[in-house]
Amino acid sequence: MFKVNDNYQKLPGSYLFSTIAKKVNAYSAANPQKSIIRLGIGDVTQPIAPSIIAAMHSAVDEMGNAATFHGYAPDLGYEFLRSAIAKNDYVARGCDISADEIFVSDGAKSDSGNIQEIFSVDNKIAVCDPVYPVYVDSNVMAGRTGTYDPKTEMWSDVIYMPCTMENNFVPEFPKETPDIIYLCLPNNPTGTTITKSQLQEWVDYANKNGAVIIYDAAYEAYISEDDVAHSIYECEGAKTCAIELRSFSKNAGFTGVRLGFTVVPKELKCGDVSLHAMWARRHGTKFNGAPYIVQRAGEAVYSDAGKAELKQQVAYYMNNAKTIKEGLKDAGYTVFGGVNAPYIWLKTPEQMTSWEFFDYLLENANVVGTPGSGFGPSGEGYFRLTAFGSYENTVTALERIKKL
Ligand SMILES: Cc1ncc(COP(=O)(O)O)c(C=O)c1O
Repeated sequence: MFKVNDNYQKLPGSYLFSTIAKKVNAYSAANPQKSIIRLGIGDVTQPIAPSIIAAMHSAVDEMGNAATFHGYAPDLGYEFLRSAIAKNDYVARGCDISADEIFVSDGAKSDSGNIQEIFSVDNKIAVCDPVYPVYVDSNVMAGRTGTYDPKTEMWSDVIYMPCTMENNFVPEFPKETPDIIYLCLPNNPTGTTITKSQLQEWVDYANKNGAVIIYDAAYEAYISEDDVAHSIYECEGAKTCAIELRSFSKNAGFTGVRLGFTVVPKELKCGDVSLHAMWARRHGTKFNGAPYIVQRAGEAVYSDAGKAELKQQVAYYMNNAKTIKEGLKDAGYTVFGGVNAPYIWLKTPEQMTSWEFFDYLLENANVVGTPGSGFGPSGEGYFRLTAFGSYENTVTALERIKKL
């Protein structure tokens, strides 16, 4: 008789966004005349920029011609894309990362879920709380997290680093030393970030303690302040302790197109073992490459026209962020984030729980957000709104919230 991976049985019940969808569907069925504005899920709404669409069209045409057809992509991704990434995302920012340290993938969700595979099951992970759920769940599936306590909503073998208004959402070094540290900066869900010098302290801590940092920089394009690092490799010593994950989803609207990459520096080693070689082996065995058409689209992100168009797109969302943040402040809310990230994190009013506020907002303003507690116990009492809606919807949502 076959056996299943029991670790999957340990995962607690329904996923945050499916619970939200159920609640919204039930409300909508009972109140069909109400127009609901969704500022919950972190999906983009603006179309792919024209120069990127043009690059995709031309790649589609190449695929229809025997002379320019492309089959399987090279394991690490096409050189044209990896060189554009190295030049624009790293060398231009003073980071010594080369094209052959970049692994092109279908997005940061897969990479953030898969990267744990190259580490021993005995490693202890540390995560911020609240957190993007993939980091923890993928480690649960691997059997690295111990037992789940439904009361505290915590795993016995996970080190939690609370990020709340009390510590300004800056994770503190944990009492117990972790082996693997997940950092997502700018942060989803809190929309906050840390300064480059604070990040440098984490790099120094990891190097000193023999830990590795998995650095998720999916929201890097939204950074507006000068003292915030766009890449962890802007910090001295990061190449010996950090893996960086990037996504084209939020900077270029590729949530449905799918493209991302992971940087594993050649200097990153565990004793004599190269993590770059391990990830290359894993990538080559389990992944057959992002589509040629999509990689050409990714290349266009770095063209002059692409950069100009995407700058406008990011500005559009950040204008929404400003609208939400200022609107909420005017309405008397305590608000965080929204300056270097497209998320607004607010304190729920009058001691409401995150889910109580979710219901309140849905029923009274017909606005959908995401309860902070869905991202971890320290998210209780907070609520996330995203700037990824249309400007018109964002303005209407805030008008409704102000009237409550
Ligand atoms: C922190 C973080 N990492 C990764 C992802 C997933 O990115 P991708 O669309 O590239 O899989 C998201 C998506 O919301 C995210 O918030």
